[in-house]
Amino acid sequence: MFSSDALTQQRDIRQLGINLNHWYAVARSAEVKAQPVGVVLWNQPIVLFRDSTGTPYALEDRCPHRQVKLSHGCVKGDELECAYHGWKFKSSGECAEVPYLEENQKLPSCKIRRYPVRERDGFIWLFPGDAGADLVAPLGVPEWDHLNYIATVSTINCKAHYSYLVENLMDMYHGHLHQDWQAWAEPVLQDIREDDSRVDAHYQAQSYYRIDKIWSVTQLLLPALRRLHPEPLDVSYIYPHWMSTLGKDFKIYCLICPVSERETRAYLIHFTSLNAFWRLHKLPVVFRRFVKDSLFGSAQKLLDGLVRQDVVMIEEEQQAYLENPERRNYELNRALVSVQRLIRSQANMHSN
Ligand code: FES
Ligand SMILES: [Fe+2]
Repeated sequence: MFSSDALTQQRDIRQLGINLNHWYAVARSAEVKAQPVGVVLWNQPIVLFRDSTGTPYALEDRCPHRQVKLSHGCVKGDELECAYHGWKFKSSGECAEVPYLEENQKLPSCKIRRYPVRERDGFIWLFPGDAGADLVAPLGVPEWDHLNYIATVSTINCKAHYSYLVENLMDMYHGHLHQDWQAWAEPVLQDIREDDSRVDAHYQAQSYYRIDKIWSVTQLLLPALRRLHPEPLDVSYIYPHWMSTLGKDFKIYCLICPVSERETRAYLIHFTSLNAFWRLHKLPVVFRRFVKDSLFGSAQKLLDGLVRQDVVMIEEEQQAYLENPERRNYELNRALVSVQRLIRSQANMHSN
């Protein structure tokens, strides 16, 4: 007999589960409006909806009556109504009403699973783990509301195990792929730190962007304005998410939502800093808010372009793995050894 630890050590990294005892960003706040939304987190179908006060809730996406998806239904007041026969469910997951219940019949005692959710920094965060284990806070994205940062969001949908995405994000030598989008250049890995919850890799690189003039933001749109200059490039896998800084001007987060062994969804959030403009701080908050909101999405073309290129490679890796799972890679980046170690140890802590 193998212990679960020994089994995890043996299993191929591309088949490992996730540690469920973490908060996962399952949707952008803006994606959950009046209609329920169906999402999947590690093979668990989940329906997200808001009650009459706008508070978000998450329930198992399954009507206990006939097992269809509750996300096909709609919200009535504070309850979720199934599309098929109109049974209604409370945000606690209990059945609240059956429209054709006869006088001598009792309300079915069926109850579906409710997941803890929190809405913060522009995202709906969900905790799929053990009850009472949700003491660890979701990863903070403080720049989301900070007036000095301009955000752009790109959604990643790739048919691949999440480990391929994390490895892509931690291996900055893959800048080679993005030459036409000119994000960073000439990375050199200088230092790696790791513990049982994160891996921090420090690279020295060249950045194409410097945000120090009022017109600098146009560098995101016009390649001719970009000039290479040295900057530290730090990437961190803060399980289960990723964060990076390039000099003082850029910060990127990747909020990872593994869907299954062969599918991953993630939100890439790019922030351009306006911290260099100290005069901006003296302007009225309303004006600063206007600047932040009007420039939202200014790096969209860049970010979507990077994502498209990465997804092609990541999906091809997964495909190659499925065709020849026994083939081994020739990995030279030490950071990826640390990343795989963390994936393995976290999967061993609480995986399904
Ligand atoms: S299947 Fe949902 S109410 Fe019948
Ligand atoms: Fe990339």
